[in-house]
Amino acid sequence: MKILVTGGAGYIGSHTCVELLNADYEVVVVDNLYNSSEKSIDRIKEITGKDLTFYEADILDADKMNEIFANEKVDCVIHFAGLKAVGESVAKPLEYYKNNINGTLVLCEAMRNNGCKNIIFSSSATVYGDPAFIPITEQCPKGTPTNPYGWTKHMIEQILTDFHTADPEWNVILLRYFNPIGAHKSGLIGEDPKGIPNNLLPYVAQVAIGKLPCLGVFGDDYDTHDGTGVRDYIHVVDLANGHVKAINKIKENPGVKVYNLGTGNGYSVLDVVKAFSKACGHDVPYQIKPRRPGDIATCYSDATLAKEELGWEAQYGIDEMCEDSWRWQSMNPNGYN
Ligand code: NAD
Ligand code: WQD
Repeated sequence: MKILVTGGAGYIGSHTCVELLNADYEVVVVDNLYNSSEKSIDRIKEITGKDLTFYEADILDADKMNEIFANEKVDCVIHFAGLKAVGESVAKPLEYYKNNINGTLVLCEAMRNNGCKNIIFSSSATVYGDPAFIPITEQCPKGTPTNPYGWTKHMIEQILTDFHTADPEWNVILLRYFNPIGAHKSGLIGEDPKGIPNNLLPYVAQVAIGKLPCLGVFGDDYDTHDGTGVRDYIHVVDLANGHVKAINKIKENPGVKVYNLGTGNGYSVLDVVKAFSKACGHDVPYQIKPRRPGDIATCYSDATLAKEELGWEAQYGIDEMCEDSWRWQSMNPNGYN
């Protein structure tokens, strides 16, 4: 089977390509390298000892996308390509809606033109908004996103669902990721944010290596075990394997399916700081700061459905997530540069 991976040079995409190649799929990557480096493609090949086809292309380019689909005879698409910085999306809504929504429409039109109607989409726990209940099952109603990024995930889920309603030949799997962290065990691929990181783990890692002086902990007065925000961190390799399982499911022509990809465990910011300090062998300095607007106290999954229907569950715990994140950070202090 041939799998086209949009955004395959990025953080989650590169780890997924490794697991797809390990599972003997043929892989075609389309990425415009807006937020990634072609070096990750070389590293994927190095880790797996296998080859893949890479197109440096923008999913908004309809002619190019039609050409790629006509050439490649793709069986299934895994769609990662998109802009993902929550704060930036508030400042640049037009860019976010254009890239994420138009990009998905152009992609799907090229798929339809070429008879490929199987898509696995990178959604997010952000679609639950401030969740109605915890742990969050897939039955939890979608909430109101607090930013344009979250709305793009909310809307794309609806768009893809409507494609299936209009044409039941479409198979759509919406994977709602919780908080992906960690890196491949080899230390060769990992998260490489441009500029100052927005997310907790890359920030902690850059403090640990001395590139940033001190972590700001956003709020210690939440209703959680230590007052800091609680999240469901999931190892990116576990997440990548969830996509391989989703391909097995899509072969059954399942129509529209939604799965949470999380561990079902919640860890606070201070739990993460502690685990990371253990992994890197020294304390990570932090300071309590005011709450960050838009943050919720607690978010973790009920991951039962993915276990029952995909035969998937997370294997790695928080200690391994931090160890692997540290290995990537210390082997590549400046990311791919
Ligand atoms: P990433 O930025 O590392 O990867 C996205 C990739 O898409 C990048 O390589 C970028 O260059 C590429 N891209 C962006 N716009 C493109 C376009 N128009 N044409 C071609 N390529 C384009 O991000 P990631 O963390 O790997 O996230 C992958 C997907 O998972 C995204 O859709 C993101 O919204 C979603 N997601 C991420 C998280 C997270 O915390 N990392 C959580 C939930 C969902
Ligand atoms: C985690 C915790 C912060 C940074 C975001 C997106 C979400 C999804 C995953 C894509 C929170 C605290 C953070 C820092 C801190 N992405 N924190 N100091 O906000 O749960 O989710 O990424 O879909 O949509 O919103 O992740 O890593 O930013 O924060 O104290 O410097 O760490 O307050 O409690 P979040 P995060």
